[in-house]
Amino acid sequence: MKIALGCDHAGYDIKQPVVDFLNERKIDFVDFGAYEIDRNDDYVDVGIKVAQAIANEEFDSGILLCGTGFGIGITANKVPGIRAVPCDNPDAAKMARAHNNANVITLGGRVLKPEQVAPILAKWFDTEFEGDRHLRRINKIAMYEKSTLNVQMEHGGRTVIFNHPLVQHKVGIIRNINTSVKEFRELVQEIAGLMVYEITRTLPLTEIEIQTPIEKTKVKTLEGKKLAIVPVLRAGLGMVDGILSLVPNAKVGHIGLYRDPETLNPVEYYCKLPPDIQERDIFVLDPMLATGGSASAAISLIKKRGGRKISLVCLIGAPDGIKKVHEDHPEVDIFIAALDSHLNSHGYIVPGLGDAGDRLFGTK
Ligand code: RB5
Repeated sequence: MKIALGCDHAGYDIKQPVVDFLNERKIDFVDFGAYEIDRNDDYVDVGIKVAQAIANEEFDSGILLCGTGFGIGITANKVPGIRAVPCDNPDAAKMARAHNNANVITLGGRVLKPEQVAPILAKWFDTEFEGDRHLRRINKIAMYEKSTLNVQMEHGGRTVIFNHPLVQHKVGIIRNINTSVKEFRELVQEIAGLMVYEITRTLPLTEIEIQTPIEKTKVKTLEGKKLAIVPVLRAGLGMVDGILSLVPNAKVGHIGLYRDPETLNPVEYYCKLPPDIQERDIFVLDPMLATGGSASAAISLIKKRGGRKISLVCLIGAPDGIKKVHEDHPEVDIFIAALDSHLNSHGYIVPGLGDAGDRLFGTK
């Protein structure tokens, strides 16, 4: 178990008892600060850092301290996936775990005496989540969180559907049979570029100090995490440049699959991935998510070669394809610009846009 610990100046007085408790129990933890009392620090900053680290699954749970436990708790609860509960006695800590499966406990340095800390933490650590009806309620909270992010939870996975007006406008144009190859190609790149904002939303940031023309200040910068984009040949190629225009340092792999005419199963004919694929956040590009067969096979291939953090990025999806990918790969997030209603008897998405490869390359 790994714990993230954070506090502001008003929680600082009860930080040592928390550290002593964790050390006594030999619980692994990382201290996100504050490391000294600075009356100008704001619980919001450390609260968000700790909550994001837990939401990104870098830690199992967190302990946050401020004057009352309230402000830092309110802050942490703004981060999707966080269930932070302020506790001022052991019974509250027990219920926070048993019924709410709180993944963050918040304590108040101005309301608790140092000796009150250990019994509260002990109850929180030693109580099991009861699940059952409480799980149903927690899942409802998660569903609400996802809905505010335009995310649907289906078949165990996350599907993010873009309802941005600009994306919808451009998708409307590429659906049109009269759109030229040139325009189609340009629009697919533009839509892929617009999708980058959402698909990279959870990339971790770090702070660096820089000098502006006015003064020194701290700014956010991407933590230097490695990205890979992997188009599924050939239609996926149409999205590559749009994504690279915003993340130019991403490495590009390629996967080629064809459908065996007899078994109808996807068969690999080409696969070249960056050698350090296991360390990268991977975005698989496949414009049309119809039955989901080739997207799912492409993801399996990447996993076989060591890929771990994979997302699928498509232009248009059908419910069958989403279901298939989420069933085969429940941990994979799917990003689609538009969700259509169904597949026709030839396996084409309806209303769709036809064969994306043909329309991109003018082969029909
Ligand atoms: C800081 O003075 C204090 O307001 C803060 O630590 C916290 O108690 C807010 O809820």
